[in-house]
Amino acid sequence: MTTPTSAVNWDLLLEHARAALSHAYVPYSKYPVGAAALTDDGRIISGCNVENASYGLTLCAECALVSSLHMSGGGLLAAFVCVDGAGEILMPCGRCRQLLYEFRAPGMQLMTVSGIRTMDQVLPDAFGPQHLEGQ
Ligand code: THU
Repeated sequence: MTTPTSAVNWDLLLEHARAALSHAYVPYSKYPVGAAALTDDGRIISGCNVENASYGLTLCAECALVSSLHMSGGGLLAAFVCVDGAGEILMPCGRCRQLLYEFRAPGMQLMTVSGIRTMDQVLPDAFGPQHLEGQ
């Protein structure tokens, strides 16, 4: 079932995303990211980025968020926001849009720098699990 935009407490989600910033491990980029999401059963989950001396192994905040989704009971993402170190809204990177796409609830919304957008708007014509069906 689609969560209506009006049913999402975006201020609360932003609060959780900003709170997640304080857990970020970013000795290399010094660029903390905090992410938060509302699940389709009403939980709020969050995540921060965790870097690595082998730079390419860095885990984006969305990686932690998707792990938290599963650790806290699974389900799908109804609404999502991430912020930079100043607490300002940040666009999820391309790879993370794909991570989020996998676990999107129908009509999932993202708060973006251009306003509220759907997953399909930020990752049009996406590759996804549907392409692997029947393989
Ligand atoms: N980063 C995220 O955590 N999520 C994004 O969507 C964009 C980038 C992190 C990765 C790295 O720790 C830092 O931001 C700078 O690229």
